[in-house]
Amino acid sequence: MTIQVFQSLAELGKSAGAQIVAVIEGKPDPVIGLATGSSPIPVYQGWAAVAKERGIAMDHVVCFALDEYSGLETEHPESYHSVIARDATEVIGLNPSLVRVPCGLGDVAANALEYDEAIQAASGIDLQILGIGRNGHLGFNEPGSPFDSRTREIDLMPETIADNARFFDSITQVPTKAITQGLGTILEARELIVVATGEAKAPAVAAALKGPESVDLPGSVLRRHSNVTWYLDEAAASLL
Ligand code: GLP
Repeated sequence: MTIQVFQSLAELGKSAGAQIVAVIEGKPDPVIGLATGSSPIPVYQGWAAVAKERGIAMDHVVCFALDEYSGLETEHPESYHSVIARDATEVIGLNPSLVRVPCGLGDVAANALEYDEAIQAASGIDLQILGIGRNGHLGFNEPGSPFDSRTREIDLMPETIADNARFFDSITQVPTKAITQGLGTILEARELIVVATGEAKAPAVAAALKGPESVDLPGSVLRRHSNVTWYLDEAAASLL
């Protein structure tokens, strides 16, 4: 595991972007895992900047997002379909038809099975980008999620609903369920990068890196992976 601490989000994003572009350059058919949230935004900007500097097109890259709310229409501006389109696909110049986001509508259990199969059919994820929730969740794998869990529907915890209320007009509009890649699915990616910024993430980062390895701390599962790079700012690293 590598831990890198940056003084600015621009530097963090550029460094992570360079790691992602190197993976993409190294393969004819690269597969990258995308994450939502504010943390990966500098990474998407850095990725776009490095690709532009090097003159490398990104429209052949296959992408799989981590998660999506259940029961929220795809066109809703805060659906993860919309967020990924806005924050990643458009910024980086990805091909929208190659960017998959789990479907939280209809038969969600069947969608979840099909999503894991689609990742496997694409030969797995070369590099997965992750944020971490204040309660240590990865994707929407809330505390208690088994380390070998697969893509599935999950009930969101009250603190996650409260954290995400800022994106909706009121907390009652925040979906209470989501579909997420499982921790087992995430661990199968060949390379992981975890981005955490700001003081509010310091306890989750410290728990993931130094606390007991426990399902109560989903981030602690990352210690089981052999190729993880943490991209932190000084505030998020302040309890290490
Ligand atoms: C949501 C997402 C997670 C993300 C988390 C933290 O819950 N499902 O994938 O890591 O938010 O978001 P932020 O980076 O905005 O703090």
